[in-house]
Amino acid sequence: MVDVILGLQWGDEGKGKIVDFFARNYDVIARFQGGPNAGHTLYVNDKKVVLHQIPSGIFHENKTNLIGNGVVLDPVTLRRECKSVTDMGVNPQKNLFISQRTHLILPTHRALDKASEMAKGTEKIGSTLKGIGPTYMDKTGRNGLRVGDLLDKSFTTQYIKLRLKHQRLLDNFNFQEDITSWEEEFFEALDFLRDLNIVNGEYFIHDKIQTGKKVLAEGAQGSMLDVDFGTFPFVTSSNTISAAVCTGLGIAPRMIKEVIGISKAYCTRVGSGPFPTELNDDIGELIRKAGNEFGATTGRPRRCGWIDLVALKFACMINGVTQIVMTKADILDSLNALQVCKSYKIDGKETVQVPFQMNKINLEPVYEKFEGWATDVAGCKNYESMPLKMKAYITYLENYLDVPIKYISNGPEREQIVAVSN
Ligand code: GDP
Ligand code: IMO
Ligand code: MG
Repeated sequence: MVDVILGLQWGDEGKGKIVDFFARNYDVIARFQGGPNAGHTLYVNDKKVVLHQIPSGIFHENKTNLIGNGVVLDPVTLRRECKSVTDMGVNPQKNLFISQRTHLILPTHRALDKASEMAKGTEKIGSTLKGIGPTYMDKTGRNGLRVGDLLDKSFTTQYIKLRLKHQRLLDNFNFQEDITSWEEEFFEALDFLRDLNIVNGEYFIHDKIQTGKKVLAEGAQGSMLDVDFGTFPFVTSSNTISAAVCTGLGIAPRMIKEVIGISKAYCTRVGSGPFPTELNDDIGELIRKAGNEFGATTGRPRRCGWIDLVALKFACMINGVTQIVMTKADILDSLNALQVCKSYKIDGKETVQVPFQMNKINLEPVYEKFEGWATDVAGCKNYESMPLKMKAYITYLENYLDVPIKYISNGPEREQIVAVSN
């Protein structure tokens, strides 16, 4: 059986921490989409680690971690990350596996990402510049190179052919940067990658499932960044929702059991694009400071706002979410009053549906007000000791979403999480 953990907002919901926490109950932890645009933070023995390519189960001994075919892989990032986890006592040769169907991010993909963003000017997506869009374009355009191609003698020839194609595009963009050093690093990293465990991902995971092993699929980004259902065009280039687990690992829909959706107690977004509940005021600033809301991949300040239940309910619907983990409850500790977006007013008309697009319309969030719990909850060890005002907030969310909130995360450390008991 396969359970899924994924983000229900615009990314950075705390997936890394929650996957690391739940990993103890699983045998295999697998990434199924996205690439080094992800930044998943975990704390291991008080040390902060940010993972971009490696699944967040890597610090659990005797667990298998798989980078699935739906992921796009930057060998340079992977090599760097393998080195840092090795320094912390992990052996990637032993418990990290990579699907041979995983597409490779080339240095020219990164250059194209940059060139494309520069050309868009004020309309830029705010991409992480990791080459995600161009790599997925080469996948669907049937030009990309895959990890399995590395084992073929013709790899260099194929690389040169694709590079030439990219160069012509870069010339069109008038991109002048010298990427020789990127290429040097890339080829060094390829040698490293060849020595890792490259597997037939779909057979690999199928065998695990057949022998009764439990798989946890780890999402990257969030549902509102999904290429189909997010705030297009301000999205990433992959499907981030539960359906992508099937195509990104090679498993059947009926294998999926729990879909665990992660949502912050509020909401953040990094990069451009619509964000109805954004707070461009002192409260937004306070949340950013308290929550240390700065990108784990790019360091950019994250935009902060109230929780958006219209978007969250939409995310629950398209993912088939069976339970929710609410993170960063502790960040709202110092607020006396909270708000929750319960509908949108579009041109004066109220709706509870996410519209086709949000950027060019007159959209106003409608709020329900709550008293803040104004209590330090980071130290709470069980649900009973949580403040009543927080419980009222949670009950409202559960009723609105019609999905149980099963856990509340109240701090960044692995054990700072409380099971909800009613
Ligand atoms: P991810 O991309 O979804 O894995 O999330 P990020 O790692 O990018 O961002 C989440 C940030 O919040 C990280 O710095 C986490 O250490 C931190 N975090 C996660 N859960 C909690 C929580 O419940 N409370 C607090 N204070 N921090 C948390
Ligand atoms: P995790 O897994 C937050 C955003 C970027 C940009 C848009 C497109 O840590 O939650 P891309 O580089 O994918 O072409 O950028 O998507 N974005 C993320 N925002 N968390 C992420 O990942 C993100 N990955 C991409 O900021 O707006
Ligand atoms: Mg992140």
